[in-house]
Amino acid sequence: MTEQPYTHVPVLADEVVGLLATEKKGTYVDATLGMGGHTARLLDALPTEANVLGIDWDPEMAGVAARNLGKYGDRVKVVQGNFANIDEITAREGIRSVSGALFDLGISSLHFDKPSRGFSIKHDGPLDMRINPDNPLTAYTIINQWPYEQIEHLIRVCGERRSGRITKAVLEARRARPLETTAELAALISRVAPARGEKVHPATKTFLALRVAVNYEFDNLTRGIQKIMPLLKPGARLGIITFHSLEDRIVKETFRLMAKMGGWELVTRKPVAPSEAEIAANKRSRSAKLRVIEKL
Ligand SMILES: C[S@@+](CC[C@H](N)C(=O)[O-])C[C@H]1O[C@@H](n2cnc3c(N)ncnc32)[C@H](O)[C@@H]1O
Repeated sequence: MTEQPYTHVPVLADEVVGLLATEKKGTYVDATLGMGGHTARLLDALPTEANVLGIDWDPEMAGVAARNLGKYGDRVKVVQGNFANIDEITAREGIRSVSGALFDLGISSLHFDKPSRGFSIKHDGPLDMRINPDNPLTAYTIINQWPYEQIEHLIRVCGERRSGRITKAVLEARRARPLETTAELAALISRVAPARGEKVHPATKTFLALRVAVNYEFDNLTRGIQKIMPLLKPGARLGIITFHSLEDRIVKETFRLMAKMGGWELVTRKPVAPSEAEIAANKRSRSAKLRVIEKL
């Protein structure tokens, strides 16, 4: 299949700029730079003294962002790294405090649309799913080497009610030969756990579970929040956009705990969701939720 040029429309971009850009001349952190959409919107909204440190774990994505954001010159510094190490990254860049930070979680359209990255149910590719290709764990390893109990548990906690049936089928299939591709896995799941009127593909939750495990997504999120907290200046805000209920629950509970501890105030008591117009223009935004907290 020919791979085309990739675009990514930043979700809730007006809301991010409106809620996070509280200081005109500050340094902001975009912890999930992607193709640079939110960073561009922030830089456009702020005077030229404001700048952004943009981080992405995926070296390919960091390269795309650096190209897309070239016109902003030294107002933006692009770094490849894991936001779970945001304290080390900012220290290396000589940044001791920041005026705001954004985490727009998950993966970008490039990841979904590029078959070779192995995230897509729609396009056939290798069972990979690594955001950072240096990561030792792949979806292939989980599917072909993990024991029954671990796979079943993983996909069950990610909301798949037919986890037992799916895992059994995976183990049966791999006894004959390893499962190699996303299409093979998606077809197997469709066969043993066909859709029962749902609009989404029956393999959706299994694919999400694999991606979350391969990239330690929940662990990174918890560590990322812990590490950014001391870096935010008083009055600075942290905004997190989530795309599924498991990560939203982590953000909701962590923010509530922070507010209870003192020194933090919830800016959004309920998460901000995209408007109908945004969902109509960008289907990917439909499950987005933005929560914002401010350091007092
Ligand atoms: C939803 S996209 C961000 C899109 C971006 N806001 C834009 O406007 O283009 C999420 C990005 O976060 C990156 N990412 C995921 N986990 C990460 C981590 N632990 N550390 C740094 N970047 C991460 C992914 O590679 C992906 O590019």
